[in-house]
Amino acid sequence: MKGKFITFEGCDGCGKSTQLKMLSDYLTEKGIPHVFTREPGGGKISEAIREILLNGKNAEMTDECEALLYAAARVQHLHDKVAPALAEGKLVICDRYVDSSLAYQAHARGLGEDFVRKINAYALENYLPDATVFIDLTPADAFKRKHGADENDRLEQAGMRFHERVYEGFDLTAKAEPNRFIRIDGKQTPLQIFEQVIIALKEKNCL
Ligand code: TYD
Repeated sequence: MKGKFITFEGCDGCGKSTQLKMLSDYLTEKGIPHVFTREPGGGKISEAIREILLNGKNAEMTDECEALLYAAARVQHLHDKVAPALAEGKLVICDRYVDSSLAYQAHARGLGEDFVRKINAYALENYLPDATVFIDLTPADAFKRKHGADENDRLEQAGMRFHERVYEGFDLTAKAEPNRFIRIDGKQTPLQIFEQVIIALKEKNCL
């Protein structure tokens, strides 16, 4: 039987890593066979592409090149890691996936959904997640949580606007695909969030 494919999405600082760690511990404790992976990356070639993408020295990269590299890393990652694990019936949990490209490249960079959907057609048509957990925390709330409420206005405005557009992108996709998305209020405590993640994943027959 083919395994289930679950992705986690959200803005920077939304608490995704904490949830992934809690889920990893839970699955190990329950003895549920699973594979954790991340994008961009998750394999030799896709990690090499990650290094190009996240290297500060490549700041002159065009938005189009960036989007294509994310899509290229994704195809390789699906081939190397995701597809084999799903074929073995394992649960695959991926930290970020194609919805990040829709939020960051299509929406925040402004490349548009058509372009980003087209270059990600392989992933969208063959490996659409069974469930996508969206930790819903606005960039302003994420920043407040990290640095305290008073410092909010010291944020660099262009940076903040970019992250707001990322959030809008996630919000739009989550609204457009309510059956696939599990939206969880990220302002709650990690434990509250985790309990809701588990309930929702069970409801979607992913656990
Ligand atoms: P990472 O350090 O893994 O960040 P996080 O812990 O927030 O996931 O870096 C991944 C960065 O890549 C993150 O800023 C989001 C971005 N990204 C895209 O812009 N498009 C994509 O398709 C993916 C998968 C990630």
